[in-house]
Amino acid sequence: MTEPLKILVILGSVREGRMAAPVGDWVIERAAARADLDCELVDLDDWDLPFFPHAKPPAAGKYQDPLQIRWAEKIAGADGYILICPEYNHSGSAVLKNALDTVFAEWGRKPVSFVGYGTVGGARSVEQLRLTAVTLEMAPLAGAVHLVRPGAKRDGDRFNADSYDDKALAALFDELTWWGRALRVARAGQLPSPSI
Ligand SMILES: Cc1cc2nc3c(=O)[nH]c(=O)nc-3n(C[C@H](O)[C@H](O)[C@H](O)COP(=O)(O)O)c2cc1C
Repeated sequence: MTEPLKILVILGSVREGRMAAPVGDWVIERAAARADLDCELVDLDDWDLPFFPHAKPPAAGKYQDPLQIRWAEKIAGADGYILICPEYNHSGSAVLKNALDTVFAEWGRKPVSFVGYGTVGGARSVEQLRLTAVTLEMAPLAGAVHLVRPGAKRDGDRFNADSYDDKALAALFDELTWWGRALRVARAGQLPSPSI
């Protein structure tokens, strides 16, 4: 059997009482039922990455700060990513953008999808993050989950998804799996040469 894809589910909020936590738990719970995905929750609150303070841009690849190096190792170890995206003032959260900005090459040639939420399902946040992902040389997927006013389905620490949400998440997983497998083969240099 094909080895499961290692996927990081990154919580895009560190706010007290954040919606990101129950939404992230829902994603992890549903992913656990799939043999093709090995998902790990990454809580940016545990990382405390500073607002990018380093002299060299990450694209230069010369990381020196121990925390930046640890973050680079964490990102490098994955085959793809699911970003849990709140919408702050029609954009992504600063903490998530900073986490993306902190390293460069480790994101590249890997798929990323999004679970956005807010009054319009985090649509504006996700659109902007797709542009950032392109610049990081990632493969942002067209499919995403958009949760409109998810607070109405929140019960304390739980997000009680309805069947539509579950269907959208299953479609996200399917698309991420296809791209994740294809790009894993490509990164390993197993793609046929264009001249063949
Ligand atoms: C600083 C800030 C700006 C916000 N701006 C928007 C917005 O532009 N659009 C939107 O739909 N919701 C907006 N909201 C509401 C968020 O969607 C809602 O608070 C959501 O729960 C935030 O995610 P979090 O709880 O995981 O931090 C904003 C919330 C905050 C704290």
